[in-house]
Amino acid sequence: MQRGLFSEVFPDDVRGRLAGLVDAPDAVLPHLGGTLADVDVLITGWGCPRIDAAVLDRAPRLRAIAHAAGSVKGHITPEVFERGILVSSAAAANAVPVADYTISMLVLAAKSVPRRVRGYASGGWPDGPRPGVPSPGERAGLGDATVGVIGASRVGRLVIERLRAYGVTPLLSDPYLDEHEARALGCEPVELDELCRRSGLVSVHAPALPETYRLLDKRRLGLLPDGATLINTARGQIVDTDALTDECVSGRLNAILDVTDPEPLPAGHPLLGAPGVWVTPHVSGARGRELRALGEYAVGEVERFVTGRPLRGEVRFADLPRIA
Ligand SMILES: NC(=O)c1ccc[n+]([C@@H]2O[C@H](COP(=O)([O-])OP(=O)(O)OC[C@H]3O[C@@H](n4cnc5c(N)ncnc54)[C@H](O)[C@@H]3O)[C@@H](O)[C@H]2O)c1
Repeated sequence: MQRGLFSEVFPDDVRGRLAGLVDAPDAVLPHLGGTLADVDVLITGWGCPRIDAAVLDRAPRLRAIAHAAGSVKGHITPEVFERGILVSSAAAANAVPVADYTISMLVLAAKSVPRRVRGYASGGWPDGPRPGVPSPGERAGLGDATVGVIGASRVGRLVIERLRAYGVTPLLSDPYLDEHEARALGCEPVELDELCRRSGLVSVHAPALPETYRLLDKRRLGLLPDGATLINTARGQIVDTDALTDECVSGRLNAILDVTDPEPLPAGHPLLGAPGVWVTPHVSGARGRELRALGEYAVGEVERFVTGRPLRGEVRFADLPRIA
């Protein structure tokens, strides 16, 4: 993994736990070279090179790979699965800060905070006659909002749990869930077009896949009610940036985007100055002290592996076409 992050993902106590389970070098492998000859379990992280047939040929004992980050698609090749090597990802641990970011932004969006911040900064008292006095009949707060969740992914499910704690029954669009499963999560299952038509707040949690490329295109964005807010922490490619830009620059829609297409947006991009838009620079995933949860998760997987228990975050080859 990227050397600089090693001690944050694996602080001393997490490394100590690992050392109690296996014979572990107390450092990052300098490269995927000859050092792999004796390795049974490989822990990987952001920045890991591709583990292809040539690498695997040098790792004849390798039986499991625990990834201390999210998607494994950047480094795990089909050969890994073909050789029967178990693969696990800490995506479930990385989902927690993304869900926390999302729920924070949903709470703020329900009160039109980004738009009001912009309005306030440009002068004057934006709403109502007196500070702190609500406007009669105003809809504000999550309890007043219809929230649409796109994707009952690991992040999506945590967001749904948090929304349930606020008493919200989200609309859910996910082609991989049947009606019964969606209702068991506490959601109302709907087709994506209906979700767009009915939701004042829409949060995107689907993976970037060929089928989700510009899932929110000009037509679907056009279905969103006036004043709706789109929150995207998933991947920029899922939203048609030009169409969203037109809708936000005109002031009809609002957006809170942690991911964009392209990423980063070029300086001066019209979305960055649109009235109800906040763009954050891909910060919702694990950072700082949140990173240790990824190391803890990976070490937990090693423990499960060496004690013969099933992995919690196992990635199956057959699931790759529908996961992040
Ligand atoms: N901003 C960040 O830092 C950050 C961090 C972590 C994850 N992410 C992104 O968040 C998203 C969710 O990540 P995850 O690990 O929870 O994903 P995941 O792998 O758990 O998602 C898989 C699930 O998504 C659902 N899905 C698949 N296709 C769908 C579709 N067409 N419409 C609706 N739902 C669909 C299915 O239920 C599937 O099982 C991904 O796009 C991921 O890249 C971003």
